[in-house]
Formats: sequence, C-alpha cells, structure tokens
Amino acid sequence: MSEEKLIFEKSAPGRRAATFPALDVPEAAQDWLPEGARRGTPLGLPEVSEQDLVRHYTRLSQRNIGIDTQIYPLGSCTMKYNPKVNEDVAGRDGFRNIHPLQPDDTVQGALRVLWELEQWLSEISGMPAICLQPSAGAQGELTSLLVCRAYHDSKGRRPRKVLVPDSSHGTNPASASYCGYSVETVKSRPDGTVDLEDLKPRITGDVACLMMTNPNTVGIFEKDIALIAGWLHAVDAQLYYDGANLNAICGLARPGGMGCDMMHFNVHKTFSTPHGGGGPGAGPIGVKEHLRPFLPVPRVRRSAEGVFSLDQDHPQSIGRVRTFTGNFGILLRGLVYLKSFGSDGLPEIARRAVLNANYLLALLKGRFHAPYGGRCMHEFVLSLADRKRDKQVSATDVAKRLADYGYHAPTIYFPLIVPEAVMIEPVETESKETLDELAAILARIDGEDPALLHQAPVHTPVGRLDEVNAARNPVLRYLPPA
Ligand SMILES: Cc1ncc(COP(=O)(O)O)c(C=O)c1O
Repeated sequence: MSEEKLIFEKSAPGRRAATFPALDVPEAAQDWLPEGARRGTPLGLPEVSEQDLVRHYTRLSQRNIGIDTQIYPLGSCTMKYNPKVNEDVAGRDGFRNIHPLQPDDTVQGALRVLWELEQWLSEISGMPAICLQPSAGAQGELTSLLVCRAYHDSKGRRPRKVLVPDSSHGTNPASASYCGYSVETVKSRPDGTVDLEDLKPRITGDVACLMMTNPNTVGIFEKDIALIAGWLHAVDAQLYYDGANLNAICGLARPGGMGCDMMHFNVHKTFSTPHGGGGPGAGPIGVKEHLRPFLPVPRVRRSAEGVFSLDQDHPQSIGRVRTFTGNFGILLRGLVYLKSFGSDGLPEIARRAVLNANYLLALLKGRFHAPYGGRCMHEFVLSLADRKRDKQVSATDVAKRLADYGYHAPTIYFPLIVPEAVMIEPVETESKETLDELAAILARIDGEDPALLHQAPVHTPVGRLDEVNAARNPVLRYLPPA
C-alpha cells in the first residue's frame, strides 16, 4: 500500500477546494485584534483542490477499521451500528447552529431535548434524578463519587473507602482514587460473580461506596446485587452501578430496582452514538432521591406552563463538572435513538444482544476455553492461556491477525482476572451470517502458523507496533522531513 502523504505535504500555493463570493458588506475594523490575528496573516493551512481533498480523506477512511465496514467485537464497549437518522437530526440547523449562551427562551427546543432525555433515562434506570453533564462513563463515575462524598459530608461523615470487584474496569478504582478515596479490591468467585464471603466483612462504617457492573465484565449477571445493596445500606454506604453493560438489560431490568443508589450511562455505547478514538461521548448520571440535592448545576427545569429553563439554584450542588449542559450533539443523538426504538423496542435490543453473544459463544466454546461456562449475557470472555502455553500464541497475536482479515480486534487482557483474556461483545445489530463469519475466521487463525501470527498484522498499512515504547515515549507532534 502506498504511503499517504499528510494533507499539509500535498499543499501547493494557490490551490483551492472552495471559492467564496466577493465581500459585499463593509470590511470590519481589525485594529483591535492582535497583529497575528488580523486578516492577511498567513494561517499555514494546506492549499489543495477539492478533488485532492476528497481523495485524501476517502483513502484515509479506507485504511480504518470501523463499525461502518465490519463487526467491531470490542468487549465492554458496545460497538453497535450508529443509525444515520441520528446524524440527520443532529445536523439540522436548529440544533447545529445554536449557541450554549443563547437566552433560554430562544432555545426551548434544545432544552426540551435535554429534559426529555432525562425522562427517558430516569424511566430506563429507575433513578429519579438525572444529570446529563459528564462527557464519558469515567467522568460519570467521578461525578457520582463527588456526589456520594457531598452526601456523606452533609451528614458529618467522611467514610474513606471505595470497594471495587477484582473484575472491575480500571476507571472504577481510578475514579475512586481521584476522588480522594482509598480503594479496596473484592475477590470474584470461580463463576465470575462477586465473592460474598470476601465482601461482607469489608462492609464497615468506613465504606463510602461499592462500585458494581451488572452484568459484570465477564458477562455474568450479579444475581446477589439486591442482597449486597441491603448490606451496604445498613451502614449508609452507597451502591454504584457502572452502566457500561446496560445494553444487556436495558428495558428489561432497572438498576434502581436492584438497590443501586447512583450510576452512569454510556450514551456512546448503549444508545448508539459514535465512539472510539477518544470521543466524543456522554456519560450522564442517575441518582436516587437522597442524592438529588448534590447533583451538578445547571439543571433543566420545566415549569407548570411547559417552559424550559436552566436552573442554578441548588445550594448543596457539587457545582459544574463540564461546560454548559454536556455534550449536546451526542445527547441529542441518544434521544433520537431512544425515540426511534420506543419503549417496546428497547427490551428487544437487549434480548438480541444477549442472544447474539450466546450464539457466538456456542460457536467458539468447543475450540477455545470459556472460563465462565457456556452461557453469558451480552458478552463473554475466552482465555487463550492454553494456546500461549502450548504454541506461544498470545491473545495479542490473535487480535493483531484479525486486522489482516479486516476485522477490529476484541478487547484483550481485560478483565485482569483471566489470563490471556479475549473479551467479545458482538452486539444486537450483527446478523447471524456475520457472527458465523467471525467464528470461522477465529477458527482459521487458530489453525495458522504461530510464526505468522507473531508477525501479524502483515496486510495493514502499519505493521505490529512496539506498544510499550509507543505508550512510554509517544511522539505526538508531526515533524516535517528535513
Ligand atoms: C465496565 C466499564 N466501566 C466504565 C467504562 C468507562 O467508560 P468511558 O469509556 O465512557 O469513560 C468502560 C469503558 O469501556 C467500561 O467498559
């Protein structure tokens, strides 16, 4: 594959992809602007023709593995198809061209979008109060923990610990520690669920919160969650629901009903908005009534007459966690998705996500070791520890080789409790044929020469990278060839 030059390297003075009409209004004075910002200052932008521009970005897009080209079985990430109607609505002038500082009476439609989304999320979760501000699941975790701390502070208490299962996502302990808590890990049982015997003695007056994912990160439903909630509430500790896996139960079961006090939603997972590559995302949180006073401001309010406004007047609020009201364009897309499927469609999404995962697991479990058995919720974990032992083929080798067949890799080496973990979440939008194909390719890779797998990927624009070096010594700045 030929080397693709940067768009800056393709630049030639005077080339244009667009022509602008002649100025037909008086030129505005510029003397108040700093010198480098005045008209006529060279901007250093690439100068290319429209055709070169289109070809460049089309070629780059073809080098990518994305949800619009292939199944993207990245476990714990819910990489479902992003319906184009979401984009269509988000691209409409009335949404795209508004400014967050406009007076409330000029953006009633946008405020209504936020308010309606809050109603949907509340209904889905069983959490009476919703805040849409956080921009990612991880930020939702941190915001909820700040709310939890403010709640305990209001009662004159400062419990110091947050408990997290050993299967939890790394953001859980990271958020807790960032919020000033010390983190204590709870063991899992061999079936993948939280070990009650290990957990119970840890629940003391010094525990602020337990963070649980349900179904958990090995794809198993934590059926003791209500019992655990009771233990926590007896010492006024809170139960946090990590909503990353909500797709498995959305419309079928509600975290609020399981006894959880607070949670985050990953709009970019469960509600189909594009993600990957670092964003953009949205991680709204939901809380029970006793935590409502501490939620961030501003909050969307609807008056008895149906007028929407942004309300700042909440003296116990933890304040803002993000500018304005959150990642509006993503929240809007999430609402479009919810309204497209409606309350009857959501349970069907969850059922199909679980069915697809079980179908794929059934195809693979005869060949690969499935440490948590032959049934799962929306995702499952395989272990390649035996391949590593017998053939020196690692989870990385298999994941890299999938790229040679045009597939994105599953999640690997997570959760940490499974050696050589391969975590697969096929999601509900994939067809039986696609799942059959993925299983066949994995079987084919399993039969390939280990020496080839160690080199993989060999048919991609970029070969195997030195990941440790890339993480420790990242070179993020473009330096033109000397
Ligand atoms: C179980 C779990 N919790 C939390 C998160 C964090 O969510 P986000 O990536 O939106 O910050 C993830 C992300 O993959 C996750 O899988």
